[in-house]
Amino acid sequence: MNATIEFDGKKYELPVITGSEKENAIDISKLRGQSGGLITIDPGFKNTGSCESKITFLNGEEGILRYRGYSIEELAANASFLEVAYLLIFGELPTQNELDNFFDDIKEESHVDEEMKKILDGFPKSAHPMGVVSSLTNALIAFNPSSVNVDSEEDMYKAIIKILAKFPVLCAWALRKRTGQPLDYGDNDLGYVENVLKMMFKKPNKDYEVDPVVASALNKLLILHADHEQNCSTSTVRIVGSSHAGLFASISAGVSALWGPLHGGANQAVIEMLEAIKEDGGDTKKFMAKAKDKNDPFRLMGFGHRVYKNFDPRAKIIKKSADEVLGNLGIQDPVLDIAKGLEKEALEDSYFVDRKLYPNVDFYSGIIYRALGIPTDMFTVMFALGRLPGWIAQWREMRLKKEPIGRPRQVYTGENHRAYTNINNR
Ligand code: SDX
Repeated sequence: MNATIEFDGKKYELPVITGSEKENAIDISKLRGQSGGLITIDPGFKNTGSCESKITFLNGEEGILRYRGYSIEELAANASFLEVAYLLIFGELPTQNELDNFFDDIKEESHVDEEMKKILDGFPKSAHPMGVVSSLTNALIAFNPSSVNVDSEEDMYKAIIKILAKFPVLCAWALRKRTGQPLDYGDNDLGYVENVLKMMFKKPNKDYEVDPVVASALNKLLILHADHEQNCSTSTVRIVGSSHAGLFASISAGVSALWGPLHGGANQAVIEMLEAIKEDGGDTKKFMAKAKDKNDPFRLMGFGHRVYKNFDPRAKIIKKSADEVLGNLGIQDPVLDIAKGLEKEALEDSYFVDRKLYPNVDFYSGIIYRALGIPTDMFTVMFALGRLPGWIAQWREMRLKKEPIGRPRQVYTGENHRAYTNINNR
């Protein structure tokens, strides 16, 4: 199937590729060469595909999300986070033996060089954990130089195991730095998610018992955040990885991109917004008016999505889980009621309905994180911890396909040529 572009009296036939879910894309990779310079432009890449991928499928109109063909609903209800990580990275659900070997390899690498603590010490306690985690992830390279030049699948696997093993330690250390706790390695006899909780919350002078309700809730949240095709941070991981800068540098860049309040940072911004509404007496209508006011930069955080023009399927699962977790933990959180009230109002308001703005993954997740005892400015670190296997899977797919370095074109709109003038004549 072809598409035809007609420009300046000439016609250009361009191939159309069709994906396994019947999505069609015009392949413009030869357009500039065929036309002597014609390119396309698409700020924010709202209409532009960067790659073909077999990892995650989204249907924004129908609110569908699948990892390697498996629905997010089934995976969230039945799988372990490490199982989903294996699925995303290698393409198939692991057998028990494959999963055990995978986890054994990770446990072998779950230490971090002691010198890394000196870098952590250099941060003020007030440092935002996302900046700490992004920096420490880059710093890991210095202690794992073999993770950079990885052209063989075997070398890639070793780098993947190292970052899956060490990244949770860095995330837990970022929290313990904030809370003034001694750094902790947790316990390799625990599961991957259970050990994250222990590394984060074990008190130096007390044993730590993992609460199964908390572990199950975190397992589900991490699965729901594990991948989301070519979002901002994943595209960042791919483009940094395309220069062969190495996996750790690519992940560090992904952490930085995720930090933004329009992306992963929204889960922190949602709670701050809900708290502000609560402090302001719970007047949601005032904040709705601000969100709709073009002259007001305020946005309803946790609402809207580039792809989902229907409910974000993750938001549905998280909203249900929030009720369950708070119920099981016996927690009454007034901001949950404010969130539900805000959602109801927005879904009945033409501004949001006309623009197809629904709650996204970040709208309710912070309420659960908070119930699990996670501080607000650690919420996006938890998002990064969940997204890690997705970033790895997308980086690995890009490297194995030997994709070219990412380097977009532009349309220049600046000054035409002009001669230099001496400073005395300006
Ligand atoms: C994530 O891409 C992914 O997959 C991301 C993610 C993942 O898993 O990786 O799903 C995670 O990042 C979720 C999104 C978290 N961000 C937020 O919740 C921040 C609040 N949302 C918005 O900033 C916005 O909706 C975005 C950034 C999410 C999407 O922005 P788009 O696609 O560029 O849409 P837009 O800004 O062009 O908005 C379209 C219209 C505009 O109004 P008009 O100019 O048409 O009149 O909708 C309005 C916007 O002003 N709008 C909002 C709004 N979101 C969009 N108005 C008020 N509140 C909002 N939240």
